[in-house]
Parts: sequence; C-alpha cells; structure tokens
Amino acid sequence: MTVRLGDTAPDFTAATTQGTINFHEWLGDSWGVLFSHPKDFTPVCTTELGYVARIKPEFDKRNVKVIGLSVDPVDSHEKWEADIAETQGTAVNFPMIGDSDKNVSNLYDMIHPNASDTMTVRSVFIIGPDKKIKLSITYPASTGRNFDEILRVIDSLQLTAKFKVATPANWVNGNDVIIGGAVSDEEAKQLFPQGWKTVKPYLRVLPQPK
Ligand code: BEZ
Repeated sequence: MTVRLGDTAPDFTAATTQGTINFHEWLGDSWGVLFSHPKDFTPVCTTELGYVARIKPEFDKRNVKVIGLSVDPVDSHEKWEADIAETQGTAVNFPMIGDSDKNVSNLYDMIHPNASDTMTVRSVFIIGPDKKIKLSITYPASTGRNFDEILRVIDSLQLTAKFKVATPANWVNGNDVIIGGAVSDEEAKQLFPQGWKTVKPYLRVLPQPK
C-alpha cells in the first residue's frame, strides 16, 4: 500500500516491546513518528536507536510519541536493546514493534523489493494529531538518518499548523518565516499587523510569529 502525504495513517494493532498497542489509540492527541529499521543487531540501526533514545526529551517537549519497527520479533528487540543501552549509553525508551508478519511494513510500504525482499528500508513517517501523514522520507539501509532534521520538520509543521506561514530553506526554530502564497496582502495585514518585508510580491518575509 502506498501512503502519501495527507492520507490517514493506516491503523494497526501490533506487539511491541511495551505490550500490544493499537496505533491510533496509542497516539491519542499526540503527534507521532513511526520509523522502520532493516534488521535487529545491525550497526547503523543500533546508533540510530541510541540517538533517538537520547533526544527523546526533545520529542516529548513537542508532544510527539516515537515508535520504531523492524520485522524481527519483540523478544529479539529486547535482547538487542541490551546491546543498545551498553554501546550507545542510553536505553531505548520508546516502543519497538515486532513486525514478524510484516503487517505494518506492508501497510506503510516499508519493504521495497528491489532494495531487499526481506528487510524494511529506513522509512520515517510524521503523523499529525489528526492522524494524517505530514511527512514521509525513505533512506537506504546504508545511511543512518538525521533525527535532528526530523525535529526541525516537526517544528515547522507545528508552526505552520498554527500560523499561515511557510518556512524557508534550512529554517530552524526562531528564524524568519515566509507568508504563505495563498495569503493576499489584505489578509496578511489582518494576520500580521506588525508588517513584513516584501522581497518580491511572492516572497514576503517576517519574524517567526509566537
Ligand atoms: C545497519 O543497520 O547497519 C544495516 C542494516 C541493514 C543493511 C545494511 C546496514
């Protein structure tokens, strides 16, 4: 199944290292990040899980729940997590789905047969509180993900959900933002009475609204 931006995130019930969960119920009113790993006891994945565990307070601050997945079973994840705690200095502090039957992997199109028949690619999905897919990225097995980038996108998504703005290239929280293309100057005057800088009629810049 192909999952595209704006689609409802497919719901599922799955075994995890923190017990059986129903995905939509587990998300509740939170944002979510669902990310897949090719296989347990692999080096790149080990570093990724350690890093995400270390920065989990950053996800918590943003009201984002994080959940990992690989097609190995939960008892394998549990053994692997001991290695992650030992080598990465932080214990995994979020659920890991044991997707042995590949139910979730198939729902989210995480197996790309021309890359591997058996392992999931490195997928990342950001899901909004409305359960819609807000971001999807696919990395190859050989490249570890940049989870600071995922936090940066969450900051942009949460800001642009609240204000009629967009964020420019390489934006980080606190930088200037752009007035959305669909907003007329008349509407912008109501929304942003403090004003903005018109670089071009289609490129209007203002400090990040609070
Ligand atoms: C890794 O996590 O290191 C990895 C997993 C599968 C294929 C290649 C690398």
